[in-house]
Amino acid sequence: MNPTAPIDHLITVEDWPPSRLEALLSRARALRSGASPRPPHTPAGLVHVFAEPSTRTRLSFERAAGLMGVRPSHLDAASSSLVKRESLADTGATLEAIGYRLVVLRHNVSGAARALLAGTRGHLRVVSAGEADRTHPTQGLLDLLTVLDHCPRFPDVSVAVFGDLAHSRVARSTLTLFSLFGVRDIRLAPGPFLDRLEPHDYPGAQRLGSDEAASNADILIALRLQQERWSTPPHNLDHYLEDHGLNERRLALARPDAIVLHPGPLNRGVEISDAVADGAHSLVLQQVANGVWIRLALFELFLS
Ligand code: CP
Repeated sequence: MNPTAPIDHLITVEDWPPSRLEALLSRARALRSGASPRPPHTPAGLVHVFAEPSTRTRLSFERAAGLMGVRPSHLDAASSSLVKRESLADTGATLEAIGYRLVVLRHNVSGAARALLAGTRGHLRVVSAGEADRTHPTQGLLDLLTVLDHCPRFPDVSVAVFGDLAHSRVARSTLTLFSLFGVRDIRLAPGPFLDRLEPHDYPGAQRLGSDEAASNADILIALRLQQERWSTPPHNLDHYLEDHGLNERRLALARPDAIVLHPGPLNRGVEISDAVADGAHSLVLQQVANGVWIRLALFELFLS
């Protein structure tokens, strides 16, 4: 646990002790099985601030709020006073003064959540919905829930990760959680992104070739190639799937009962083939569905 982080925010997965993360997973399972969500305090004071595009995170937070009977306000950064150069700290102070008590924040700047809190007086809490290339805690938690649903050997599993590891907030959060819950065999297949990784990125993980990483793996994770974060492509994208991505040939190297994850959005034919994305091993849509239950369990903690 990060000792400097207040427990009442969720900005990185390290903010909370494992016991609290386990309790959240357990509550998410109960809600998925039909438990009634606890009613919110009135007024709930929830605002969603999205300064980057999103489909599944944004809508699953909205759906979770709706299941609790809460109607969040929405601040689309592109039509807010942020475009008039208002600082994040002043935006946070303004949201708090209006009466909001919880912000769900997606932002493309590392440190945005802490910057938003810098101007507040302790009445506003933040849940990250993905920040820059650094952190996406609710995605990590929904990935962990999905894996726990399907991998009875967990944490004695081999995890292989393919794609743009240099820019993946999902991989940072998901693999940190996997390590925290006891996974020891984490294999990175960064391919042409190897040169863009820092030496200290993903401590404890091996860096391997793509075929070697896939060999006898239990869990295969494909990551989107985040072209919006590059100035130059590291590889001819027409050849990326065959050379480094998750295709049927590479999946066949893994264990017969291997599972396939992808956080979405998918770039089909780039980092993952249609056959793998839609095949029997794929849990992509189960990840999306689990996102609602993780976010509902979180809202209960913050709003009930
Ligand atoms: N996985 C994820 O964060 O997807 P969105 O960008 O659609 O929210």
